[in-house]
Amino acid sequence: MRLNSPRMTVIYNACMKASKSLIRDFGEIEKLQVSAKGPADFVTTADKRTEKIIIEELLKAHPDYGILSEEIGEINKENKDHRWIIDPIDGTLNFLNGIPHFAISVGYEEKGEIVCGLIFDPIKNETFFAEKGSGAFFNNSRIRVSKKNKLKNSILVTGGPKFNSSKKNDIFQEYIKISNLVDAPVRKFGSAALGMSYVAAGRFDAYWEWELNYWDIAAGIVILKEAGGFIEFIEPGTINSTKRNILATNSSIQDELKAALIKKNIE
Ligand code: 2AM
Ligand code: CA
Repeated sequence: MRLNSPRMTVIYNACMKASKSLIRDFGEIEKLQVSAKGPADFVTTADKRTEKIIIEELLKAHPDYGILSEEIGEINKENKDHRWIIDPIDGTLNFLNGIPHFAISVGYEEKGEIVCGLIFDPIKNETFFAEKGSGAFFNNSRIRVSKKNKLKNSILVTGGPKFNSSKKNDIFQEYIKISNLVDAPVRKFGSAALGMSYVAAGRFDAYWEWELNYWDIAAGIVILKEAGGFIEFIEPGTINSTKRNILATNSSIQDELKAALIKKNIE
C-alpha cells in the first residue's frame, strides 16, 4: 500500500481496525435473514460499532479535529478547518441483504475542501485512496479514469431516486429513463462511495445520483478528482442545501452526459 502521508496512514489504520468486526458481522447476516424480524437491528449495531472504532482511532490521532459522521452526527463542531467526514457503511441496504458490495468511506476536509480520502471495500479487499496533488490509488497501483469520449461506448453507474424522496413525482424521476436516452448500459449497485471509486479506477465511465449526503461522497470526491475525473453538482431540484445531486465522470463524457440528464430533466 503506497501511503506516504501520516494522515492517510491514520485513516487507513482506522478503517482496517473497524473492518475486522464489520467482516465478522457480515458473516452473521446470512443466519439472520431467515428470522422474521430480519437483521435490521443487528445491522444498526454493526454500523454504530464500525463508526465508534473509526472515530476512536481518528480522535486518538487528532483529538481536536471536527467529525461529521452518518450515525453520530457532529463532534468538535467548532473546528471547521480540520474535519473528518465518515460513512461507516456505505451501501447499507446491500449489507443488510448479505450482498457483498459496501464500503467504509473516510474523507478529510481542510478549510472546506476534501484533501484526502479512503474508501475500503472489506469483502473484496479493495482500497481506493487519494491525497490532493499526489494522485489516486487502488491498492498498490496508481489509477486513472477511462479515456472513453463517447457516451455510446460507455458503461455508467447510478443510484436510484431515494424511495423516501419528497420529490417523488417531479422531473427528477425522469432520470430513471436515462438508460433509454443515452444508449449506454447503466448499472445500479447501491453504494455511492464505490460508484465513484469505480469511475476513478476506469471500471465505469460515469456515476450520477441525486439527493446524496456529504458523507456518501466526501472521500470519493478527492479520489475521483485525483484520478483525472470531473465532478459537478447539479442544482435544479436540490431538496435542501444538505442534499447533493452529483454528476461524476471521466471528464471526457461530462458534457454529453450532462446534456442528456439536464435535457431529460427539463422536458
Ligand atoms: P447508505 O448505504 O450509507 O445509506 C444508494 O443509492 C446510495 O445512496 C448509497 O450510497 C446510500 O448510502 C445512499 N443513500 C441511501 N438512502 C439515502 C438517503 N435517504 N439520503 C441520502 N443518501 C442515501
Ligand atoms: Ca452512505
